[in-house]
Amino acid sequence: MYKILKKKELNAQVTLMELEAPLIAKKALAGQFIIFRIDEFGERIPLTIADYDREKGTVTIIFQKVGRSTIMLGNLNEGDSILDLVGPLGVPTEIPEGAKKVAVIGGGVGCAIAYPQAKALYNVGVEVDVIAGFRSRDIVILEDEMRAVSKNLYITTDDGTYGMKGFVTNKLQELIDAGNKYDCVIAIGPVPMMKFVCAVTKPYGIKTIVSLNPIMIDGTGMCGGCRVRVGGQIKYACVDGPDFDGHEVDFDELMHRNSAYKEQEQHDREHICRLTGGAVNA
Ligand SMILES: Cc1cc2nc3c(=O)[nH]c(=O)nc-3n(C[C@H](O)[C@H](O)[C@H](O)COP(=O)(O)OP(=O)(O)OC[C@H]3O[C@@H](n4cnc5c(N)ncnc54)[C@H](O)[C@@H]3O)c2cc1C
Ligand code: FES
Repeated sequence: MYKILKKKELNAQVTLMELEAPLIAKKALAGQFIIFRIDEFGERIPLTIADYDREKGTVTIIFQKVGRSTIMLGNLNEGDSILDLVGPLGVPTEIPEGAKKVAVIGGGVGCAIAYPQAKALYNVGVEVDVIAGFRSRDIVILEDEMRAVSKNLYITTDDGTYGMKGFVTNKLQELIDAGNKYDCVIAIGPVPMMKFVCAVTKPYGIKTIVSLNPIMIDGTGMCGGCRVRVGGQIKYACVDGPDFDGHEVDFDELMHRNSAYKEQEQHDREHICRLTGGAVNA
């Protein structure tokens, strides 16, 4: 069992939890993830290791409550435990060789995944600009944390209630136009956002790394659930990724595969909703 040592609501939909997991903390690196199961009936759900503390023996996860399992996890409290935590899984983020200046872009809860990558780069002396995009001010997360690991932090909101009004791609284009020379861009967020960031960087030949979020089941390369097409080749995000060269990723196929269980997930949500008195479907 893995004990929840700390729980903090970052906004109405996003929760941070610090879990007691010394063996995972000992080996974790930026870019890796865990797969958890709440109880013996639970689904296997992947979440990025947002942070870790080797001395305390803890890993931090930050998750958006989007459906059955993440809502159930969000309903647990400090002192409660979850049944399984497997990890660290996936290939750690590779610091691009010779990179001196990198833009790290996070969209919404994708900032939870972008943050450890920005921190890893910053800690080895890379100049990091972070662009963090949110729908509106009330859901901004990790602002202080991202500021602490970047030279410049730019926040964008779709509705203009905080930072620059617009999308992360507008800010990125603006920074490139202003003469910033990025050796690499790392983009993590909703699939359309990553696709459009790649469209911005491609004409300039800026290497762009994206972190893919296909449906994962076993996390060991055996089930095929997380199959993605990269450079025309089949890859398994759980063992070959989740980071890939964004200019090679078939984003349309990824979006199509990710929506395969939409009907069942919707049904699941409605089911939970009745149990919890309607709070979930809001
Ligand atoms: C490598 C990786 C790292 C991730 N890291 C984070 C993170 O740090 N924070 C965060 O909020 N989310 C993260 N996700 C997404 C997270 O796994 C899904 O939000 C979660 O699985 C939703 O499950 P649910 O039962 O709550 O919702 P559901 O209603 O079942 O699903 C909602 C959506 O979540 C996705 N999803 C559902 N089941 C899975 C699954 N087994 N594997 C992958 N995606 C699934 C689908 O796109 C689905 O449409 C990550 C996904 C991957 C693949
Ligand atoms: S999750 Fe099964 S092959 Fe990747």
